[in-house]
Amino acid sequence: MSSAPIQLIDPPALAADAAAVSDGPALDQYGRRINYLRISLTDRCNFRCFYCMPAVGMQFAPPPELLSNAELERLMPILARVGFEKIRLTGGEPTLRRDLVRLVDTIAHTPGITEVSLTTNGLRLAELAAPLAQAGLARVNISIDSLDAQRFHEITRGGDLRRVLAGIDAAEQAGLTPLKLNCVVVRGINDDEVVELARLTVAHPWQVRFIEVMPLVGVANVADDGVVPSAELIAQIERELGLEFLGWYGSDPARTYQIPGAQGQIGFISSVSNPFCSTCNRMRLTADGRLHLCLLRDDEIDLRDPLRSGASDAELEALIRHAIYVKPWGHGLPQGIRPTLRGMSQLGG
Ligand code: 5AD
Ligand code: SF4
Repeated sequence: MSSAPIQLIDPPALAADAAAVSDGPALDQYGRRINYLRISLTDRCNFRCFYCMPAVGMQFAPPPELLSNAELERLMPILARVGFEKIRLTGGEPTLRRDLVRLVDTIAHTPGITEVSLTTNGLRLAELAAPLAQAGLARVNISIDSLDAQRFHEITRGGDLRRVLAGIDAAEQAGLTPLKLNCVVVRGINDDEVVELARLTVAHPWQVRFIEVMPLVGVANVADDGVVPSAELIAQIERELGLEFLGWYGSDPARTYQIPGAQGQIGFISSVSNPFCSTCNRMRLTADGRLHLCLLRDDEIDLRDPLRSGASDAELEALIRHAIYVKPWGHGLPQGIRPTLRGMSQLGG
């Protein structure tokens, strides 16, 4: 097994050429091409995963504060012009958004957008997978942190594992593949299931991805006590099942491995122990209309107020280009800098 390179998070010298912001696909100030946008469609969720949201007292944005479908539809060609090619719809739980199918259709048919995907808890996929695929959705990532129904119920604070498994089935039937299954590993909660989850890839062509729990607002204590470094999981799975390193592909944050002879793959997303900031190609648009520049920092640029106060397409484009240009180099967890503004359910991973 070869190991992946360690990525430094110190910034290189700034690209001096501010012309990078003027036309064509946008680059940030460090020369990174930012072509992947994760759009949060709602901050609400029908689960309450303990590493994502507090059990009670979560304040949700009132509907008028969310970008409407019309506003999102207006932004799409501008975002495509600036160079966003891949769109992922997230939440909270994006399947709670009414008219999701129509929205997928519009986004997937925007010239310049090459792929629309979805990250979901899978609860509503049994009924939605087929219409979403028909509307142009390419694939889905589904969260699954345990294969034990009782434990799944506890982690999600109420989730029904059987329905999620039915959702996985429906996604596969509908061709929303390659299917990725996200598992946030928390010490003492589900780290004893990692080998069983990894074993799913032997007979299924899925990518099971183990994600280090991150200290987002409201759940920082979970991360303080619960991060299991990917290296530990890799060693454990290798011991039990064998593991070959396949690669670390471009801007995909997952280091990819395979159990010898397996149909699927295993990914490790090590945002805490081994950040991949230098190859970051993404930004987020929050449900309330702000470009959020780095998952683990607070920096944001508002698009909603300009949208609602008559900004022209050219003005919106300039704002988006500016947001890309000033995107921070990387997160500051190693320096003890943590996000203070938003929880994961407002950012969508
Ligand atoms: N740390 C890491 N991943 C998280 N997710 C939710 N909260 C956290 C956290 N604190 C994951 C979800 C989902 C994706 C959108 O983000 O499990 O797979
Ligand atoms: Fe909902 Fe996903 Fe957060 Fe769980 S991780 S509460 S499913 S948004």
